[in-house]
Formats: sequence, C-alpha cells, structure tokens
Amino acid sequence: MPAAPKPEILAAFEAAKGFMPVDEGLALYAAAVEAGRLGLPLLEVGTYCGRSTVLLADAARGAGVTALTVDHHRGSEEQQPGWDYHDPGTVDPELGLMDTLPTFRRTLHRAGLEDHVVALVGRSPQIAALWNAPLGLVFVDGGHTDEHANADYEGWAPHVAEGGLLVIHDVFPHPEDEFTGQAPYRVYLRALESGAFTETSVTGSLRVLRRTGTGF
Ligand SMILES: C[S@@+](CC[C@H](N)C(=O)[O-])C[C@H]1O[C@@H](n2cnc3c(N)ncnc32)[C@H](O)[C@@H]1O
Repeated sequence: MPAAPKPEILAAFEAAKGFMPVDEGLALYAAAVEAGRLGLPLLEVGTYCGRSTVLLADAARGAGVTALTVDHHRGSEEQQPGWDYHDPGTVDPELGLMDTLPTFRRTLHRAGLEDHVVALVGRSPQIAALWNAPLGLVFVDGGHTDEHANADYEGWAPHVAEGGLLVIHDVFPHPEDEFTGQAPYRVYLRALESGAFTETSVTGSLRVLRRTGTGF
C-alpha cells in the first residue's frame, strides 16, 4: 500500500488554492514518503500558494528531513491577468503584481507545517546555480514554457541522488489536453531518454521517475 496522508493533511491540501487534483496529490505524497527514506531534502519548483507543498512538508516531517520550495511568487505566464488560470485574489493591490507568498505562508501556518519548510524566493535557475547538495526528491511544477521547463530540469535534475525521485507535473502527451503546452511532456521524454531515470508511476499528468543511472 502506498503511504497516504492523514485526513487533516489531505484537508489542508484540498483547502489550499491551486490546481493539483487529489489523485495526483496522493501520488506525490507517496513518492515523497518513499524518497524521504534516503534522509535527504525534498525540493519543489513551483510553490504557488502551497497546495503541493503541504504534502511534501508532511512527508518531510515524517522522515525528519526538510522540504524546500522554490518560486519567485510572481506567477507563471498562464496565471497572469487575462489568462484562464488567473486568480485576482493573488494580486498585490499596492503593486498590481501577483504575489502568492502571503497566501503560501497562510497555507503552511494553518497546516502546522512551517517548521518543516524552507521557502526559496527567487528565479529557479538563479537558485539552482547556487545549489550544490544531493536531494531525495525533485518535484518540477514551475514555468511551463520550454525555456523554463528545461532550465528547471537542467538546474535541479543533476542533484537527484542515486535512488532518488524526479517527479514531473502537467505531462500531457496529447496536445489537445492542455493549452499551457507540452514543455513538461518534452522534459519528461528528455529525462527518460537520458538513461538516468526510469518511470515508476503515472497518475493523471504526474510522472514519478527514479534515478537509476548517472547524468541527466
Ligand atoms: C503551476 S504553479 C505551481 C503549483 C503548485 N505546485 C501547486 O500544487 O499548487 C507554478 C509556479 O511556478 C512559479 N514559477 C514559474 N516560473 C518560475 C521560475 N522561473 N522561477 C521560480 N518560480 C517560477 C510561478 O510563480 C507559479 O507560482
């Protein structure tokens, strides 16, 4: 049986703003619990309002490790005003720019998980360039352009430890299924073609890969 979150954690996940459906959240949680056994930090690219972070944080708490989550908190292209994924409640009224950091902090506080998460606020490639430590899990759910998705892969996949997991969200093999594009799908193919990763599970648009070789 894959590990499942307690009802209060699942409730916190469901109460948080975000787009991840429950079945994918459960698959992410199971992967995080498994990866936590390596005793290494779990890292997410794409915090948004903390929906998926709640699950990583609870798995990290159980494993005695830290969850790291990376976001500039200004939103992806498809979350900007005028796009389908825009939420006006995420706009800072003073600046007129998206700022999901306050909502994210409320999500974590309400879930009682603040002590288990380090939020890294900035651009993913800029933070990745400063990072030099192995990770038990990397969850890629940041920008959905080819430029951003490839930069996330190149910046973070090299740090997935042997036996660790690379989880990719919004993998849509059929272009008609997703209007934000297929960059995550292309990155998923790239990871498999590298020979460094082997698929272990498919749930909706969530793919879990394990590092079974070197490189990326
Ligand atoms: C799809 S949302 C993440 C959803 C979140 N994982 C959840 O389950 O609710 C993508 C997030 O990636 C962030 N993002 C996009 N490109 C980024 C970049 N280059 N560096 C840092 N964050 C980025 C956006 O600000 C946005 O909050």
